[in-house]
Amino acid sequence: MNKIDLVYKAEIAGGVHKDLPHDSAHKHVSGEADYIDDMVVPEGTLHMAAGLSDRAHADIIELDLSDVEATRGVVLVLTHKDIPGHNDIGPNHRDDEPLLAERRIEFHGQMVFVVVAETREIARAAARKAKFTYHDLPHATDIIEARALGYKLVTEPLTLKRGDADAALEKSPRRLKGEMRIGGQEHFYLEGHIALAIPGEDDEVTVWSSTQHPSEIQHMVANILEIPVHAVTVNTRRMGGGFGGKETQGNQFAALSALAAKKLNRAVKFRPDRDEDFMMTGKRHDFLAEYEAGFDDDGHILAVKANFAARCGFSSDLSGPVTDRALFHADNAYYYPDVLLTSEPIKTNTVSNTAFRGFGGPQGLVGGERIIEEIAYALGVDPLEIRKRNFYAIKGDERCLTPYHQQVEDNIIHRIVHELETSSDYQARRLDIIEYNRHSRVIRKGIALTPVKFGISFTFTPFNQAGALVHVYQDGSIHLNHGGTEMGQGLYTKVAQVLADEFQVDIDRVKITATTTAKVPNTSATAASSGSDLNGMAAYDAARQIKDRLYAFAAEKWRVPVAEIAFLPNRVRVGDDEIPFPSFIKQAYMARVQLSAAGFYKTPKIHWDRAKGIGRPFLYYAYGASCSEVSIDTLTGEYQIERTDILHDVGRSLNPAIDKGQVEGAFVQGAGWLTTEELWWDGKGRLRTHAPSTYKIPLASDRPRIFNVDLAEWSENQEMTIGRSKAVGEPPLMLGVSVL
Ligand code: MTE
Ligand code: MOS
Repeated sequence: MNKIDLVYKAEIAGGVHKDLPHDSAHKHVSGEADYIDDMVVPEGTLHMAAGLSDRAHADIIELDLSDVEATRGVVLVLTHKDIPGHNDIGPNHRDDEPLLAERRIEFHGQMVFVVVAETREIARAAARKAKFTYHDLPHATDIIEARALGYKLVTEPLTLKRGDADAALEKSPRRLKGEMRIGGQEHFYLEGHIALAIPGEDDEVTVWSSTQHPSEIQHMVANILEIPVHAVTVNTRRMGGGFGGKETQGNQFAALSALAAKKLNRAVKFRPDRDEDFMMTGKRHDFLAEYEAGFDDDGHILAVKANFAARCGFSSDLSGPVTDRALFHADNAYYYPDVLLTSEPIKTNTVSNTAFRGFGGPQGLVGGERIIEEIAYALGVDPLEIRKRNFYAIKGDERCLTPYHQQVEDNIIHRIVHELETSSDYQARRLDIIEYNRHSRVIRKGIALTPVKFGISFTFTPFNQAGALVHVYQDGSIHLNHGGTEMGQGLYTKVAQVLADEFQVDIDRVKITATTTAKVPNTSATAASSGSDLNGMAAYDAARQIKDRLYAFAAEKWRVPVAEIAFLPNRVRVGDDEIPFPSFIKQAYMARVQLSAAGFYKTPKIHWDRAKGIGRPFLYYAYGASCSEVSIDTLTGEYQIERTDILHDVGRSLNPAIDKGQVEGAFVQGAGWLTTEELWWDGKGRLRTHAPSTYKIPLASDRPRIFNVDLAEWSENQEMTIGRSKAVGEPPLMLGVSVL
């Protein structure tokens, strides 16, 4: 790795650090981008619909499917009895997430059977004709009810501990204690879940799945069908949004369409409608944070003790790592001298909650920010002052130590906040607002400037690896494939930029191809914002291998030292000659140079001992801050974000245009989470907010009236990441906290 030249040349159209458009942007807006439901399907494709339970907690005494089966146009009905393999699609192999429920129903909307029919409409109508007889059981849909019923945790809790929080609380001159509810969030990807399974010969099956994790879909299909993983190919060209909701939640649709496709030897498509997608798939975990803090008269935090309980739903899914990450970010950017943080991932009779942009981190961070605000109000000091007083130190002392004993080595939050405070004119506007509120009884205004520090890497260390496959063809065109998936975030474009930069060719010489388990195996989910860090490096590695062979070839053929060979824009210099890239490649082919390579990357330095709560789970941190001014009509509750200023750190951006889009979108999504979006279950455990009629995501008109978004252009990743960039996908969601 140390030989790698990570300094990129800026002269070329295709390279990194350039404002290139998303490769599919024009197709997204013109409708020409193929999503799975747009694909040309094989002759005789059938459609699947789900049969859902309508109890939150019950045993099925009897299930009468005769009317379903008798419906004209229905071809097949499947229950758990038709599963040849293991009836579990949980990512943890804990046997806690049946694909189709057997006897026990654990949430309202759990899938019990599926119908395959000639059309989607027939399948859906038939699925509603099932007759269930239940034996009802007491249910708990929320954290408090679950505690009262003595429900267990879905997975082992985490403890982070440094010093002695109880003793430090005891000694603190001032103390506070409180609790806070932090709501969940529906992903509301524009393209819902979908899978299309196409049977092949012998045991083979190909599945097109809208998933962030093709390898896991592959494993689940193999597991359900009881066939080797090599028989299953999973393809994903793009998703119309994932936001974490397609890390694990696509398993059920893929596995069932594959099962039916193999049974019938016909292609089968499974696309739930929006209401079903809401009811059947997990969401952001909502939390109950219970906290105590000790501080001095100047607002310095001395001790923090907090428990983060999460509504996990009926199975473990990703609740372990999600609740872990809540603890990892409960400190946000602040040093807690003595600290004790615990998680409580509690089981409930609701759909199993899952990843959502930030992966529990935002919930932890909101808890930490609440403590800051309470200290500020207790002391009558501007919260920004309290924030600054508690920031981690810039370098090297004890005040850089996190509750998980990782040293913060790259702290730039002081500079970020200082620059934003100046550029947003925070101090003067704050005084204006205080004055305004003196005279305005009904419309009240507020302003807040909040920081973000977010750890980058999967906390499950084995996920921090990636592969890429690069072919250079004889005409000098380049085929790129890697394990990452595209969900709108621009990953494919960024990785193509890396290749274009390495070979010094225009970006349109690089063909971006659909993610498939057949080209790059054993991939990780595209998640934890790590897509470009991991896949960019893997593609870089593949390009280097091919280039090394090309250097050796040219040195031998033209008898020049390697130092006299250079890749220049669209040409290669060899000694005094310059050869156009395509003819250089053609000559390499004629000389039998291997023009294909598999690249690989694994993140260095990280390690994590969960049992001890000690390690370095993150390679580095991404930072940012936002300042929002909001007006509220205290009679109607209407509000307006008047202005937001953002300064966000993405290191040396691979693509500033795309990164700015990520920051803007994430901010709006974060603000939506903390304002209009609300999930609500009724007394029967039914989710009543299951469509856009009742669940309100922000509209374009809800964005700040004045919206100034800047990247910290001076920032450069201290770690050897691709082009010294930093991950951008999740961290800016937490910029929405300034609106709260
Ligand atoms: N941006 C768009 N447009 N659509 C998405 O679904 N998902 C977010 C983020 N940005 C998402 C998005 C989430 S949850 C993650 S983890 C990252 O993108 C994943 O992609 P990356 O690792 O390539 O940044
Ligand atoms: Mo993102 S929640 O890690 O898919």
